[in-house]
Amino acid sequence: MFSLKSPALFIFLSSLFQHLNWAISLTSTGQTLVLNDIPYYVPATPFATVPFPNSLQSAASAGGLAPVTVVVLSASNASLSGLEQAIDAFGVDDVWNEGFLEAILVSYATGVKPIIPLNGSFTLPGANQSSLISVLQSNNSSSSIPSGPYFLSTSGSLYQPLRLYSDFAGAFTQPLIRVSNSAYAALPANIAGIQSPAVGVPSRLYYTKTAHQPLAGVRLGVKDIYDVAGVRTSDGNRAWYGLFPPASVNAVPVQRLVDAGAVIVGKMKTSQFANGETATADWVDYHSPFNPRGDGYQDPSSSSSGPGAGEGSYPWLDLGLGSDTGGSIRGPSQVQGLFGNRPSHGLVALTGVMPLAPQLDTAGFLTRDPAIWVAAAKVLYVDLPFYNQYPKTLYTVDYPTSADNEADAVLLAFLAKLEGFLSTSATALNLSTLWTNTLPAGADPSLDEFLNITYPILISKEQTMLVRDPFYAAYAAVHDGRRPFVDPAPLVRWAFGDSYPNSTLTEAVANKTVFQDWWSANVQRNDSATCSDSLLLYTAGVNPLYRNEYNGPPQVPYGFGTSRISPFTEVPDFVIPIGSAAYNSTITLHTEFLPVTVDILAAKGCDGLIFNLVQDLQAAGIVNASLTGQTITGGEILLRM
Ligand SMILES: *[C@@H]1O[C@H](CO)[C@@H](O)[C@H](O)[C@H]1NC(C)=O
Ligand SMILES: *[C@@H]1O[C@H](CO)[C@@H](O)[C@H](O)[C@H]1NC(C)=O
Ligand SMILES: *[C@@H]1O[C@H](CO)[C@@H](O)[C@H](O)[C@H]1NC(C)=O
Ligand SMILES: *[C@@H]1O[C@H](CO)[C@@H](O)[C@H](O)[C@H]1NC(C)=O
Ligand SMILES: *[C@@H]1O[C@H](CO)[C@@H](O)[C@H](O)[C@H]1NC(C)=O
Ligand SMILES: *[C@@H]1O[C@H](CO)[C@@H](O)[C@H](O)[C@H]1NC(C)=O
Ligand SMILES: *[C@@H]1O[C@H](CO)[C@@H](O)[C@H](O)[C@H]1NC(C)=O
Ligand SMILES: *[C@@H]1O[C@H](CO)[C@@H](O)[C@H](O)[C@H]1NC(C)=O
Ligand SMILES: *[C@@H]1O[C@H](CO)[C@@H](O)[C@H](O)[C@H]1NC(C)=O
Ligand SMILES: *[C@@H]1O[C@H](CO)[C@@H](O)[C@H](O)[C@H]1NC(C)=O
Ligand SMILES: *[C@@H]1O[C@H](CO)[C@@H](O)[C@H](O)[C@H]1NC(C)=O
Ligand SMILES: *[C@@H]1O[C@H](CO)[C@@H](O)[C@H](O)[C@H]1NC(C)=O
Repeated sequence: MFSLKSPALFIFLSSLFQHLNWAISLTSTGQTLVLNDIPYYVPATPFATVPFPNSLQSAASAGGLAPVTVVVLSASNASLSGLEQAIDAFGVDDVWNEGFLEAILVSYATGVKPIIPLNGSFTLPGANQSSLISVLQSNNSSSSIPSGPYFLSTSGSLYQPLRLYSDFAGAFTQPLIRVSNSAYAALPANIAGIQSPAVGVPSRLYYTKTAHQPLAGVRLGVKDIYDVAGVRTSDGNRAWYGLFPPASVNAVPVQRLVDAGAVIVGKMKTSQFANGETATADWVDYHSPFNPRGDGYQDPSSSSSGPGAGEGSYPWLDLGLGSDTGGSIRGPSQVQGLFGNRPSHGLVALTGVMPLAPQLDTAGFLTRDPAIWVAAAKVLYVDLPFYNQYPKTLYTVDYPTSADNEADAVLLAFLAKLEGFLSTSATALNLSTLWTNTLPAGADPSLDEFLNITYPILISKEQTMLVRDPFYAAYAAVHDGRRPFVDPAPLVRWAFGDSYPNSTLTEAVANKTVFQDWWSANVQRNDSATCSDSLLLYTAGVNPLYRNEYNGPPQVPYGFGTSRISPFTEVPDFVIPIGSAAYNSTITLHTEFLPVTVDILAAKGCDGLIFNLVQDLQAAGIVNASLTGQTITGGEILLRM
C-alpha cells in the first residue's frame, strides 16, 4: 500500500510536480449534443450574445443550453402567418429539426414594428407542443443573426451548431471546422461508426447567396493535396502528414471558393501523391474510399476518389474540389456517376497544391448538381467566357455504333438526343488515321508509339524532382537518415523516371507540344462565334472493377488513349452522367447498376461552352442532376448494411 507519509513517494511526487510546475492549459473545444435523436456539435465560440429570456429558464436542459430557432422577419412577413410560413420552410433544411422550436427568437429588420404578441407561449399549427416565443432585443444588430437553428446558453451565448454525419464511405481524411476568419482545425467530435469520422455541416438557413458570395453555404470537401490554413496536408502519405507543419494559408483555388462563401467541411482522400492506385492492395498507407454505386465494392477510381465517393454517397455534401493530371477527376466522376470537369490547363494558379506534373495538373470539381458546378466554375476560373451558340461539328472517338449491351444503348440514345439538340449528325473520327494522314514533321507515324511514354515521363520526372527528392531529404534530416514509407504505385512510377536520363523530360514536353499544336490545327480549332469549331464525345464505358480482387503489382501508365487527349492538348474534358447499366454482381449475386457517362471535349479555353451546353441539356431534359445512392437515381447504399 502507498502511504502519503512514504518519503520515497513524497520525493517522487514533488519532483513530478516540480517538473510539471503545475502548468495548466485548458481549452474548450465545444461539445456534442443529441436533439431528437440527431447529433450536433456546438462550437466553443458563440456566434453572438443576446439577452437570455427569463421565460426560457426551464428550456435550458442539456448543459445549460436551450435549442432555439431564430426567425428574421421583414415588413413583408412580420405577421403570424409570415412566421408560420417561415418555420414551415425550415423543414427542408437538414440541420434544423422540430426540437429547435423549444423557443422561437423573432428578430425584426430595422424599422419593422413587432406585430406578433410576444414573450409568451405559442403553438404552431400542426405542432404538438407550444414554443416559447421571445423578441430579440437588439434592433439593428439582431438582424445580423441569420434565421436558423441555434443553441442558447443561460448566459446569452448563441451558438450555431453543426449537424454530425458519419463518413461511412471513408471519403474524408479529416473533417474540419473553421476556427477563425483565416484558419481551420480538426472537428473535435465523433459519432458511432468504425473508421468513419463524423463530419459537421452548418444549416443552409444561415446563408443567402449574393453576387459577391455566389457559393454562400455551399458545403465543400477538399482533396487532401490542397493546403487549407491551420491544417496539415497529407498527400495521402502518413510520413508526409507527420513531417510538415500545418499550412499557413489556403491554396489559391481553395481561397477563391472560400471568398465566394463556400464552407469547407473537410479534407478528402487522395491516392498517394495523386498517383493512380487501385483499391484495395495499392492503398497501403490509407484505405481507399468506398464507391456507393452498385454493390458498394467497386473501385472508386483514383486519385480524387475521396470527393468522388463523398459526392456519390452524401446528400449533405455539395461540392468536391479535385485535381486532374491524367484522369483523377474524370475517373472518379465516371465510376460514381457525377459531373466532373478537367478544365483547360492553366485556368487557375495551383499555388499551395501538391504537383504531379505542372504541365498537366489542373483543378476542377466533382458534383451531382450542374447548377452548383457552373456557379463554382465561375468563381474558380475568373473571367471564363461563356458561349451559348453551339458548333455544328460533333465528333465521336471510339464510341459504340450498335447497342450490343445496355450501356451502349444508353450511349447511343444520348448521342441521338445530342444530335437532335445541336441539329447535326456526329462524325466518327479515327484519330490514328487522321494523325498518319496529317503527320507533323519529324513525328512518329504511330500515335501509340509517339506518345507511349510521354505521360509517365512527365509525371515521374516532375514529381521526383518537385516532391520526392525534397521529401526524402527533409525526412532524413529529422529521422537520422531514414527513408519514409511510400506506397508501391508512386514508387514504381518514380523508379521508371529514374531509369531515363533527364533529357527525356525535354523530349516528353516536345512530343506533348507537337500533339497539342496538331490538335488545335487539325481537330478542334478556335471559332469566334462558338469558341470551339467542334465538340468531341468519348466514353469510358462501364467496366466492373471489384475492390476485393487481387491485382498484380502496379504498372507504369504507358500508352495513348482517349483519356490522354485532354492532358496533352490542354483542352477541357467534362464528364456527364447519362444513365445506368446492369451487371451481375459477384458480391451480391444479384443484378446491380453502374453509372454510364460520356466525356465532352472542346477547344482550349472553351470550358464555358461545355458548361452552357450541360445547362441547356438539363433544361431540355436530356441530362439530369445525379442523386446519391446505389444508382445515380437513388436507392439504398448497400455498403452501409
Ligand atoms: C421580452 O423579453 C425580453 C427578455 O426577457 C425583455 O427584455 C423584453 O422587454 C420583453 N419584450 C416584451 C414585448 O415583453
Ligand atoms: C421575410 O421576408 C424577407 C424579404 O421579404 C426574406 O428575405 C426573409 O427570408 C423572410 N424571412 C423568413 C424567415 O422567411
Ligand atoms: C429600431 O430601429 C428603428 C429605425 O432605425 C428606430 O426607429 C427604433 O427606435 C429602433 N428601436 C430600438 C429599440 O432601438
Ligand atoms: C404529433 O403527435 C402525433 C401523434 O402522437 C404524431 O403522429 C405527429 O408526428 C406529431 N407531430 C409532430 C410535429 O411532432
Ligand atoms: C445596421 O447598422 C449598420 C451600421 O451599424 C448599417 O450598416 C446597416 O445598414 C444597418 N442595417 C439595417 C437593416 O438598417
Ligand atoms: C482506325 O483506322 C485504323 C486503320 O485503318 C484501324 O486499324 C483502326 O481499327 C481504326 N480505329 C477505329 C477505332 O476504328
Ligand atoms: C510502350 O512502352 C513500353 C515500355 O517500354 C513497351 O513495353 C510497349 O511495347 C510500348 N508500346 C508501344 C505501343 O510502343
Ligand atoms: C518522343 O517522340 C519520339 C519520336 O517518335 C519517340 O522516339 C520518343 O520515345 C518520344 N519520347 C517521349 C518522352 O515522349
Ligand atoms: C537530373 O535532375 C535531377 C533533378 O533536377 C538532378 O538532381 C540530377 O542531378 C539530374 N541528373 C543528371 C544526370 O543531370
Ligand atoms: C446476368 O446473368 C443472367 C443469367 O446468367 C443473364 O441472363 C443476364 O444476361 C446477365 N445480365 C447481365 C447484365 O450481364
Ligand atoms: C484558342 O484559345 C485558347 C484560349 O482561349 C488559346 O489558348 C489558344 O491559343 C487559342 N488557339 C488558337 C489556335 O488561337
Ligand atoms: C430526367 O428526369 C426526368 C424526370 O424525372 C425524366 O423524365 C427523364 O427521362 C430524365 N432524363 C434522363 C436523361 O435520365
